Amino acid sequence: MATASVRAHWSNRLAFILAAAGSAVGLGNIWKFPYITGVNGGGAFVAVYLVCILVVGLPIFVSELYVGQRAQANVVDAFVLTHRPGTPWRVVGWLGLLSAVVILSFYSVVGGWVLDFVMRSVTNQFVGHSDEEIKGMLGTLFASPGRQLLWHALFMGGAMAIVQQGLAAGLERWSRILMPTLFVLLLLLLVRAAFLPGFGRALEFLFTPHTEQLTAAGILEAVGHSFFTLSLGMGAMITYGSYLRTGQELTRTVFSVAALDTLIALVAGTIIFSVVFSFGLEAGSGPTLMFQTLPMLFAKVPGGYFVSVAFFLLVAFAALTSAISLLEVVVTYWAEHHGKSRGPTVLVAGGSIYLLGILSALSTNLLEGVKVLGLTFFDLADKLTSSLLLPLGGMLIALFFGWVLGPRAADEVIGGRSRAAALLLVWTARVLAPLAVLVILINALRNW
Ligand code: TRP
Repeated sequence: MATASVRAHWSNRLAFILAAAGSAVGLGNIWKFPYITGVNGGGAFVAVYLVCILVVGLPIFVSELYVGQRAQANVVDAFVLTHRPGTPWRVVGWLGLLSAVVILSFYSVVGGWVLDFVMRSVTNQFVGHSDEEIKGMLGTLFASPGRQLLWHALFMGGAMAIVQQGLAAGLERWSRILMPTLFVLLLLLLVRAAFLPGFGRALEFLFTPHTEQLTAAGILEAVGHSFFTLSLGMGAMITYGSYLRTGQELTRTVFSVAALDTLIALVAGTIIFSVVFSFGLEAGSGPTLMFQTLPMLFAKVPGGYFVSVAFFLLVAFAALTSAISLLEVVVTYWAEHHGKSRGPTVLVAGGSIYLLGILSALSTNLLEGVKVLGLTFFDLADKLTSSLLLPLGGMLIALFFGWVLGPRAADEVIGGRSRAAALLLVWTARVLAPLAVLVILINALRNW
């Protein structure tokens, strides 16, 4: 085990918040949240997701950051250094590495779809085209394995290039401008969506829970997504926390990142479903949802050309800042624990993840008929991580924080400001969060 002699640190508090928000805000908010909400029937799913963010997401978020910050080490060694040599808890770190690899393998494929749509925006393929034409565009990409693999390679290459440069070099400056720009653009689109005839129905769909629509699998998907969207359950936040100087305040960061992340998802959902209900689209149409709805909207707004270029570029950037947090987990572990230099590690890790991702990329064409457990490779990678590995990892991290590190750690996190808050944190981590996840996991497995 290597304890790194000199570790890089975030240059300041803002740099850290931007990095954590950059990791959290990504395809999970703009692409995945709306589509799984549509598949799961709307309001009730959203309600479960929001409760999960509060009850499960927040305590695990703070636990992960704390473990990383205290250990100043990668996902695996973090457990060893905060507990004892040889601790079985380091299995949680290994699970995290596995999750990182699998998530990034399909995440990069979707990142590639976004790049394809950047290209389509630049070459003006939305404005002046019919809704029917726009609807079929992602399908033409799906039908072309070569093009998919090329975009997948470009996206992965981009993530590798950034991680190669080391911690946040240059990225911080870009995040500072581009993340707020994405937010403003989404707000402008929201205003436009408010004038669509389907806006009211979109709000009703998202915010009126009809409990009878909820299945055990849907509830698990909501829990899983609360992990996915906040980048929890696999050590991304342990790794990012490890670049924080000890003693730096955590709770405010956690609240602001979680609030921002949730807000962006809800705004994206509102825009997308306004389009769905205005133009008679299918709410449950799945992973293609964002790629069909938003271009239709862009084709109808003033300056649609520029809006579409800006939007897809910003989403690509948001996806990239999330992807690097996944790659960083693996690279930091390999470089630090096995004492390898970062350069070759990035190449080997990124290259292997790219190769694994080929299975997901080909799920929409050549391997469409190949099913494992009834799922395509793409869906398998997604479900295995979101609905199993992340909840499991998150539950174990909560237990580790609550039982192994205990009340002293909670006091440190809360900064001695409130006994009650520290107690609440410790018992949420010990019992409430793990129990909630466990019950939901078992319930879904039973029904499956
Ligand atoms: N949170 C990101 C998103 O919503 C994806 C992501 C980045 C992630 N790092 C992660 C998901 C770690 C799970 C675990 O797009």
